[in-house]
Amino acid sequence: QATSIPADRVPDMGKRELMNLLLLGAISLPTGIMLVPYASFFVPPGSGGEGGGIVAKDALGNDVIASEWIKTHGPGDRTLTQGLKGDPTYLVVENDKTIATYGINAVCTHLGCVVPWNAAENKFICPCHGSQYNNQGMVVRGPAPLSLALAHADIDDGKVVFVPWVETDFRTGEDPWWA
Ligand code: FES
Repeated sequence: QATSIPADRVPDMGKRELMNLLLLGAISLPTGIMLVPYASFFVPPGSGGEGGGIVAKDALGNDVIASEWIKTHGPGDRTLTQGLKGDPTYLVVENDKTIATYGINAVCTHLGCVVPWNAAENKFICPCHGSQYNNQGMVVRGPAPLSLALAHADIDDGKVVFVPWVETDFRTGEDPWWA
C-alpha cells in the first residue's frame, strides 16, 4: 500500500509519525479537551487576545514546568515540545539558563517535514531536502522559502505557555508569514 502514496505526501507522513512518537501513550483525549479552556486563562494581558495560549507538553504529554525543565536541559538546548495546534515546537534554553521567550515551530516551510536540531552544526537541518535554519530558526539555505514560525513562550504559574506570535519577526524584521 505504501507504493500508492504519492511522493508529495511523504513529508506529511513524517510529521505524523514524529508526533505519534512524541505523544506516545501520553495524552488522553478527555484531558486534552479539558486543557484547552483551562490554558486560555494563562494568556498574559497585553498579548493582544488573538487566540489562546496553550501549556507546552513534554514528550510524555505532561505540562512543561519551567524550573524542572531548566534542571534537565542545559544552556543552548533545543528540545521538541507540543505547541500551538499540536505542532512540534522547540523550547530554547538560553545561555543564561533561562527559557527563551520564543519557541520555534519545527515544521519545515518547504514541504512540512519536522526539522531536527543539529547541535554540532548549531543549526536546524531538514532531512528531507536539506534546508537549513540558524539556531533561532531563520532560514539560511533553501529550498525552504521562509523561516520557521515563532510562538511566544511565556511562563505562567510556573508553566511554559505558548501564545500565538503575531508581531514582527525579530529575526527578519518582517511581518510574520504564519499569522
Ligand atoms: Fe523539503 Fe524540509 S521539507 S527541505
